[in-house]
Amino acid sequence: MNPTAQIIVLDAGGQYCHLIARKVRDLGVYAEVRASEAPAADLAGARGIIISGGPSSVYDEGSPTVDPRIFELGLPVLGICYGQQLMAHLLGGQVCKGAKGEYGLATLQLDERSDPLFAGLAGIQQIWMSHRDVVGEVPAGFAVAGRTNTCAVAAIAAPARKLYGLQFHPEVVHTTRGRDYLSNFLFRVCECERDWDPRRRLPAIEQEIRDCARDRNVFFFVSGGVDSSVAFALCTRALGAERVRGVYVDTGLMRAGETDFVRKLPGVAVEHAAEQFLTALAGVTDPEQKRHIIGEEFVRVQERIVESRHLLDEHWILGQGTIYPDTIESGGTAKASLIKTHHNRVAGIQRLIECGRIVEPLKSLYKDEVREAGRALGLPAELLERHPFPGPGLAIRCLCSEFDAPARRVPEGFVVPVNSVGVQGDARSYAPVLAIETLDHARATELVNAIAGVNRVIAVVETCEPMEHLQVRACSLTAERLERLRHADAIVRRLSHAANYDSEVWQFPIILIPLGTAAAPDSVVLRPVDSVDGMTAQSVTMPESLLAAIRRELLQVEGIAGVFYDLTHKPPGTIEWE
Ligand code: XMP
Repeated sequence: MNPTAQIIVLDAGGQYCHLIARKVRDLGVYAEVRASEAPAADLAGARGIIISGGPSSVYDEGSPTVDPRIFELGLPVLGICYGQQLMAHLLGGQVCKGAKGEYGLATLQLDERSDPLFAGLAGIQQIWMSHRDVVGEVPAGFAVAGRTNTCAVAAIAAPARKLYGLQFHPEVVHTTRGRDYLSNFLFRVCECERDWDPRRRLPAIEQEIRDCARDRNVFFFVSGGVDSSVAFALCTRALGAERVRGVYVDTGLMRAGETDFVRKLPGVAVEHAAEQFLTALAGVTDPEQKRHIIGEEFVRVQERIVESRHLLDEHWILGQGTIYPDTIESGGTAKASLIKTHHNRVAGIQRLIECGRIVEPLKSLYKDEVREAGRALGLPAELLERHPFPGPGLAIRCLCSEFDAPARRVPEGFVVPVNSVGVQGDARSYAPVLAIETLDHARATELVNAIAGVNRVIAVVETCEPMEHLQVRACSLTAERLERLRHADAIVRRLSHAANYDSEVWQFPIILIPLGTAAAPDSVVLRPVDSVDGMTAQSVTMPESLLAAIRRELLQVEGIAGVFYDLTHKPPGTIEWE
């Protein structure tokens, strides 16, 4: 059992909701995320509540709300951004449209500094804002504690009731003293105790594994990634190596050298199933369908292994390396809508969950907490520092198309008619891409916000023919295209490792898009990003010499017509393209 959450973060639909919970945990206090409408009665045991930001306006029909009784529990409540507006709205204040939006860095003038929430903070501070609506009138009992040039109500406080609101985001690094606001709220206002250290949770997690498995063995799909390896190691520690079976499935969708890497992990058998997966995926172009097929094929492999009895008897449960945000991005909480179905939440897996035949030891941990747990277990850094790699593998990095269509010239560049996934206002979008001539992140951000129907902007690094001669072609997943992507990915990984660039970025997906010529039908998109937990991400630059080397080698690969660079941050573009 996890400790009872001292802090409940109510999810009002904000991309940063998880960042808040993670930052609270970083401060040593266990926090959980709940749907914003969670009944006040369910929050018993908490010491404080944080209402997250969100993309809605409090006056929008169906916009997220909270149970107003949470303000009567006597618990401290901190509303952040939309959370502040919602609090003001529900308690009798007024919210209105600001004269203009306020996005990015701003300067806060903090007028009220005697309150515990503001203890130790300077009168002038750099903060990060992202809003249009503002609190126009504060509710009775509240005072305005801070303002910016654009926003007259940037912080509010009703100390007698321990209710607070911040229009800015203390959870993002650009709010220089953001951590102090959260720390003050936890320790000075809510009087929380330090109860959270993922490393100290390991004995309890091992006990949970034993309770869940009882006398059954555990069967594990190990991918060679951080999550499944740490979960596998924990199960092995909890139950003993003879009761845990690890299987790595060579789906034909893995990167070059992956099977050899996994062979080095103790206790993992390799199952070859490339033909099975590629046959099931033949002719499929839709990303959600790809994910479902892959998830279900994994279930089939597992059934086959169970039937053949060469690895398992019938007395088993399935282990998975699911981490906390994975359950959220598949719609595990109310607001995160269905960004995408996680492959370990497909129907076959749900059935096993329903009959209590799944153990997910990491399901309450964030990625960096999993890495910490792995370090405490003594797993090698080479494994723990690996970039995340999606379970469905190269299948979701090899884009397909149902139709032929040329790249279309528009005043800003070219619209490339391949659809990619984005998150706009927390809803999933699926839209074409804009290609521009310059590697200019600021321009890309401007354009992606300005042009309707486009959710991603890429820069043309080099193409073998002018853009107007390139064409998107109808195609699906084929062994040939996957091999092309594998080859391109291996080149980029080798060069970026040699330049030490891989350790500077959080993740570096390489995407194959069906844009090219008859002789060279595909192009490659480079997608280096910086992130903390994958929930939000910044597209980052790379040294020119590295980009030149990558471009040179990629354009020599048979079948590749162009190299592009994804300039889109998340939101609005997801890290992966599908
Ligand atoms: P997105 O594309 O949603 O990615 O911005 C966030 C993080 O999740 C990984 N990802 C996946 N991992 N199965 C996985 O195991 C999936 O279907 C999947 N989709 C995205 C992605 O690589 C990034 O680290």
